Amino acid sequence: MKDPMRFIEESVREIEREAAGGKVVMALSGGVDSSVCAALAMRAIGKRLIPIYIDTGLMRKGETERIREIFGDLDLLVIDAQEEFFTALKGVVDPERKRKVIGERFIRIFEREARRTGARHLLQGTIYPDRIESEGGIKSHHNVGGMPLSIEFERIIEPLRDLYKDEVREVAGALKLPPEIQHRMPFPGPGLAVRVLGEVTKEKIEIVREANAIVEEELVERFHPWQCFAALIGLGTGVKGDNRIHGWIVAVRAVHSRDGMTADPLVLPAETLKRLASRIASEIPEVARVVYDITPKPPATIEYE
Ligand code: XMP
Repeated sequence: MKDPMRFIEESVREIEREAAGGKVVMALSGGVDSSVCAALAMRAIGKRLIPIYIDTGLMRKGETERIREIFGDLDLLVIDAQEEFFTALKGVVDPERKRKVIGERFIRIFEREARRTGARHLLQGTIYPDRIESEGGIKSHHNVGGMPLSIEFERIIEPLRDLYKDEVREVAGALKLPPEIQHRMPFPGPGLAVRVLGEVTKEKIEIVREANAIVEEELVERFHPWQCFAALIGLGTGVKGDNRIHGWIVAVRAVHSRDGMTADPLVLPAETLKRLASRIASEIPEVARVVYDITPKPPATIEYE
């Protein structure tokens, strides 16, 4: 990016103009995109911004506590919508439907909160690759193609719509956001739901949440991947103690990328791979097998759904 300061000035002006004196609700997930959006909007419209964190039940381990800590001094609305999301996802197997159901829940909650607070617009941290992949028919990013058709908002404000992830990080630096936010790995809007193949249940999400936490603990600081995570990809046979069990197969993925459009798997040392397998399979009783994904994007996507 040529000039992040100029981008900041222009976006602040644009948000101010688009908000047109009205209140604006936004989803603050704590990722770099939404945090940059919040910082820009705070400068543009101050207290007319209503940042909302929705605890979908599909977030990473410790996420809700972390958000409260980091953004405690913003007037952050924390909404516990776990039951609502799990109920909506019951019986949903198709990945596209899953994204749509989640996208729709998000929007409905924002509409509810907008009605309650008198907000007229919605601010979103959609970035360029989200739009490209949704428009290209690869999949509906939940905050683009997954949006329900009837939306009560006057305007959807998307100040980052033309930026790539690394440019958003530059803007985060220029805005002096904490390094923890600036360098945070991307995490998909639909959360852990796209890291469970097939139907999402509370039990599966708990397993994949633990596995994700172990993968992050083992890989983030040592290898600085662009993204790393675990996914539940199916059931298989294993032996635990003296018993043959039918347990989950956990896939571990760690990739380098510039913008998420293409990606290369990290070549991890054998000891790290063994440690991952041993920790995930021994710390999570329901897991029978751990595999490491060595497929680049393309042909595979980064996430499993
Ligand atoms: P894929 O799996 O398409 O992912 O190779 C590319 C990047 O986008 C993230 N991702 C999403 N982000 N909503 C989001 O906000 C989504 O529906 C979604 N799907 C994937 C993914 O984590 C990776 O960083």
